[in-house]
Amino acid sequence: MPTPSPRASRRALLAGAAAAGGAAVLPLATAGPAHADDLLLSTDFSSGTTEGWYPRGAVALSVNAEGNLLVEGRTATWNGPAIDITAHIEVGVRYQLRVLLRLPSGTDAADLRTTVQRDAAGSTAYETVRWNTAVTPDAWTEFTGTYSITQPADLLQFYVESDSSLTPVLVDDFTLTRIQEPEIQDLLPLKDFLECDFPIGCAVEPPEVVGKPAELLAKHFAQVTTGNQMKPDAIQPTEGVFTFDRADQIVAFAEANGMRIWGHTLLWHNQTPAWWFLDAAGNPLQPTRAHRALLLARFEAHVTALAEHYGDRVWAWDVVNEVVDPEQADGLRRSRWYEVFGGGAYIGEVFKIARRVLPRKVKLFINDYNTEFPDKREALYNLVQDLKRGRVPVDGVGHQAHVDYKRDPQLLGESIDAFRRLRVLQAVTELDVSVSDYMEESLPSTPPERLAAQGRYYQELFAVLRARARHLESVTMWGLYDAVSWLRTWPVSRPHEAPLFFDDRLQAKAAYWGVVDPAQLPPE
Ligand code: XIL
Repeated sequence: MPTPSPRASRRALLAGAAAAGGAAVLPLATAGPAHADDLLLSTDFSSGTTEGWYPRGAVALSVNAEGNLLVEGRTATWNGPAIDITAHIEVGVRYQLRVLLRLPSGTDAADLRTTVQRDAAGSTAYETVRWNTAVTPDAWTEFTGTYSITQPADLLQFYVESDSSLTPVLVDDFTLTRIQEPEIQDLLPLKDFLECDFPIGCAVEPPEVVGKPAELLAKHFAQVTTGNQMKPDAIQPTEGVFTFDRADQIVAFAEANGMRIWGHTLLWHNQTPAWWFLDAAGNPLQPTRAHRALLLARFEAHVTALAEHYGDRVWAWDVVNEVVDPEQADGLRRSRWYEVFGGGAYIGEVFKIARRVLPRKVKLFINDYNTEFPDKREALYNLVQDLKRGRVPVDGVGHQAHVDYKRDPQLLGESIDAFRRLRVLQAVTELDVSVSDYMEESLPSTPPERLAAQGRYYQELFAVLRARARHLESVTMWGLYDAVSWLRTWPVSRPHEAPLFFDDRLQAKAAYWGVVDPAQLPPE
């Protein structure tokens, strides 16, 4: 019997999934599935007492005549009302934390956020639940976010803080609910559908490698990127002190599930601790020979620690991230690295160090965003061409592909075609498709027609990418499901942004069907 061709077996897989009832229904909107979450804790201050809330730092708490918690006397941004939720939170379960916030009349609008302080194994982390959002005296603003832990904690303290203002704050209607996880749908795994094209990857944080999200991740994805957990600030927060713990949780899960690991990132102008750019006396590094040598020594120590810890278990590293700026005459971003080197010479140097220190088979990438646009494409192309001519060991180019549903999907294809001339590996490293119309738009809800348009977008984009599968090492999504997307909080708070394949309840969206079976998409 002849073996079925890859395409034929893909059709068979699809037919099987449809027959099993997996592909029949197209969920168009994210809202309103039947579910009842368990209410674990609620405070509305109707008792006239603070109902378990206590001061975090120097603040005074009282309940006013309207039955709201009034928070006054804040002297630091982290001062605010707090409540202990430790007893309610289990490892691997997702919770929703909701609270209403308002400012007393006569005060200026201010950005507030909600955070959990997590103390575990002798260290403390501050984890954002809902990112900075403007609050006014005029109306209540709802702050809702999901929260989960991956390891037992000694203390979990939920609190309200501000970005910069020391404003008094009013609080009402706090709830902590346990999210009733829906079953993971019996769908054709993306990684099986794309098996003959490229490994499909996903950037994740530790909460995505436990519980239901982990089930979804292992089912659909063949590769992981450690979202924030291998960035300089996560790996070496203090000089000489390496913290692999959070990254290791992701790596362990990936290895247990046979997934390839992508390392992000060795050098970036963001999420790099301040010490990196200070001398022994705490002064900013200067463009001197000695300080250039110091920067490179620090880089080498950093990569050496990573090489010793991960070796070739990391398949590829983003060696430099976002060093290009087409607005500059030399096409290079002005960063602290650039300033100390008085130009882009550091880029070649760090690639050479990475090549020397990391195992030979680990692939070395240069990664950037907007590479689909001709100006950025050209600036990056010229840089990589110069590096190659200078015999700098660059293996590949990463296209982040943070796009939106109106950006022409063909552009990315044109960039991939262009870079083929340089004989470098290529990958799509951080794909998401925003449904917002412009950078600062914050939708009041997610319109079903935008999700449908996004489904058609993913259909077209994946046609572009699959046609170039031979030239792509992998295609990675920047997040597993909408609720954990970075676009919920960047560049502005956008609680209804929905750029990924799976919705807040881990259910497949039109975006998934656009890739796997466009016949399931609604007519235009
Ligand atoms: C983002 C993370 O997803 C956020 O959680 C973090 O607050 C900021 O960084 N380009 C990159 C990624 O290379 O590292 C960025 O990740 C998204 C843009």
